[in-house]
Amino acid sequence: MEKYEKHIFVCVNERTEDNPKGSCFNKNSLNVFQKFRKEITTRDLKKTVCASKSGCLASCSDGPTVVVYPEGVWYKNVSENDVAEILEEHILGDRPVERLRHFPT
Ligand code: FES
Repeated sequence: MEKYEKHIFVCVNERTEDNPKGSCFNKNSLNVFQKFRKEITTRDLKKTVCASKSGCLASCSDGPTVVVYPEGVWYKNVSENDVAEILEEHILGDRPVERLRHFPT
């Protein structure tokens, strides 16, 4: 098994549309996950960076929720349009994207 330098978890938990908690899936998080996977492949990062689907991360109202390890940086309201910036700034540059951080430091 590879030891990844960065591991990206994207919540893809789904609830019914009428559930008051909402869900990341209903806010297009599966597309966010797929965009991460595609970009990781395109940029030839598969040996060092992994993106995985996650269940509910208990931050549903602020989803889509993304967490990056080993730093444990949480992102909220992530869209497909944010994926390239997270990859370039955080994953490759070690500079978390502050405007998307869920729990700013
Ligand atoms: S459904 Fe994604 S954080 Fe709960």
